[in-house]
Amino acid sequence: MVDEPQMGTDGHGLKCHIRWMIRRDMAKVFEIEGESFDYPWPEKDFIRCLRQQNSIGMVAEHEDRVVGFMIYQLHKNSIRVLNFAVAADCRRRGVGNQMVAKLIRKLTPNNRTRIIIEVHERDLHAQLFFRSNGFRAVSVLSEYCENTWEDAYLMEYPFAGPAAGVSGRSNSLSQEVQR
Ligand SMILES: CC(C)(COP(=O)(O)OP(=O)(O)OC[C@H]1O[C@@H](n2cnc3c(N)ncnc32)[C@H](O)[C@@H]1OP(=O)(O)O)[C@@H](O)C(=O)NCCC(=O)NCCS
Repeated sequence: MVDEPQMGTDGHGLKCHIRWMIRRDMAKVFEIEGESFDYPWPEKDFIRCLRQQNSIGMVAEHEDRVVGFMIYQLHKNSIRVLNFAVAADCRRRGVGNQMVAKLIRKLTPNNRTRIIIEVHERDLHAQLFFRSNGFRAVSVLSEYCENTWEDAYLMEYPFAGPAAGVSGRSNSLSQEVQR
C-alpha cells in the first residue's frame, strides 16, 4: 500500500493530475528541462527516447499547466527513470512526490520490483529528494556523466524491504543525511 504523497511542508502543495505526455506538452517539457539541468537533453534525445517501445513519458498537470514531467522505461523486473524534473517555480510543493507515487504504483510484488535512477554526484537536492521517497544509493557509477565525467549514484527504490546501502563508502549524500 502506497502512502498518499506529501504536498510539502508549507501548506502550499500543488495537487496534480499525472497523465501521459502528448505532443502538445512538449514546449513546456523542454522549458522545464532547460531550467532544470546544466546539460539539458536536446529535442532529438526526447524524440529518440520516446519512440522506444518500452519508454513512457508522463506529465504532472496543475490547473491546466504542466508543472513537471518524467520519462521512464519499463523493463521486465524494473522501472528505469531516465528523466525527471519539476518547474523551478513549483518545487518543494509535492509535485515530485506525486510523480514518484505514480511510479511506485506500477511496481508489482513478484515481477517488477524496483525503480532505479542514476543521479549525478553533485545533484545533492535530487539525491535528498529521492532519498526522502525511500530510494537508497546502491552503487557508484564512475565517470558516468558524458559531459563532465563526474560520478553518479545508482539509486533504487525496492518494492519491499530496505536495499543495501553502499557499504563502507562515505559520500556527500551519506554525510548530508547523517546531519
Ligand atoms: C528534485 C526535484 C525533482 C524535486 O521535485 P519537487 O517537486 O521539488 O519535490 P517535492 O516538493 O515533492 O519534495 C519532496 C521532499 O523531497 C525533499 N526535497 C526536495 N527538494 C529538496 C531540496 N532542494 N533539498 C532538500 N530536500 C529536498 C524534501 O524532503 C521534500 O519534502 P519537504 O518539501 O516537505 O521538505 C526538483 O527539485 C527538480 O526538478 N530538480 C531539478 C531536476 C533534477 O534534479 N531532477 C532529478 C534528476 S536525477
